[in-house]
Amino acid sequence: MASPVCKPNDTDQAAGLRLAARRATGHDGKTVVCLAVASGKGGVGKTFLSVNLALAFRQFNRRVLLVDADLGLANTDIVLGVNPKYTLQDALFQGYELADVVVHTPYGIDLLAASSGGREMVALGETRMGLFIDELLRFATQYDVLILDCAAGIGNSVTAFLAAAPLSLIVTTTQPTSIMDVYALIKVIRQENLGVDIALVPNMVADHAQAQRVLQRLTAAAETYLSTQLEVLPPIPFSDAVSRALYARRPLLAYEPDDAAARQVVLLARSILQKQKAATTLANLDIKGLIDGVLKG
Ligand SMILES: Nc1ncnc2c1ncn2[C@@H]1O[C@H](COP(=O)(O)OP(=O)(O)O)[C@@H](O)[C@H]1O
Ligand SMILES: [Mg+2]
Repeated sequence: MASPVCKPNDTDQAAGLRLAARRATGHDGKTVVCLAVASGKGGVGKTFLSVNLALAFRQFNRRVLLVDADLGLANTDIVLGVNPKYTLQDALFQGYELADVVVHTPYGIDLLAASSGGREMVALGETRMGLFIDELLRFATQYDVLILDCAAGIGNSVTAFLAAAPLSLIVTTTQPTSIMDVYALIKVIRQENLGVDIALVPNMVADHAQAQRVLQRLTAAAETYLSTQLEVLPPIPFSDAVSRALYARRPLLAYEPDDAAARQVVLLARSILQKQKAATTLANLDIKGLIDGVLKG
């Protein structure tokens, strides 16, 4: 634990100075595909998608770091069936290094887990939160893909994570309440000027034709009222296998890889890699912008 991200008794001023020093040193210029998985409301499948996308990227031989950025309702460890010794809260509030906290899962992907019901990101304060994200991005240079499983809605920490990731996957069901919440989320993303690409991932789709009609209305509204072109990625069907895998505490892609929803996640991962849309050079990330984003939130 030579240089903890956030020392327990650190002042915000000291943290700010360290951040300035790091910005001067800069990152190593490595390109990492960085994705934030967000949603308007909870329970739409962010964690399901984050975990299984991580496994799909692994199948394509990418080194993957999955981050449970939903600190209040963390559950990636449950879906992956692992019991982390340390969590992100230990790094954020107890001075542990991310290297001490990271879990090497049996599925070949690495996880930064969080403890559900534990302290939330906002307790950090803006400067140290920015410093943490800086440290996280630096840590992620060991990987090819970084996936941030965010909290629902658009709280302070979500804004910062969305700003850090050039591509945000917004998971939604096609139910009217979920669609309304997605619209509100996109509105905030635009108002905050986070400068990210947004792609919708329809999940738990049972009726394709109906889903298409609903999504067409949403994309039209986003274009007319928010001047936002929304890319809609191929939908993931509702599948009973998702719940079977959950009870087995194994990710769907490992448990029932031939299931329709599992195959669709693999297709999604492939299309993201092909587009390389989310590729970013960490050296170019504007950490100051990230912190300003948090301050505004
Ligand atoms: N495609 C799907 N088919 C069936 N059930 C799903 C699907 N995607 C997610 N679920 C289930 O929906 C519930 C909420 O998913 P979760 O990933 O925890 O949502 P979030 O992270 O957005 O809160 C979980 O019980 C999950 O197993
Ligand atoms: Mg979740």
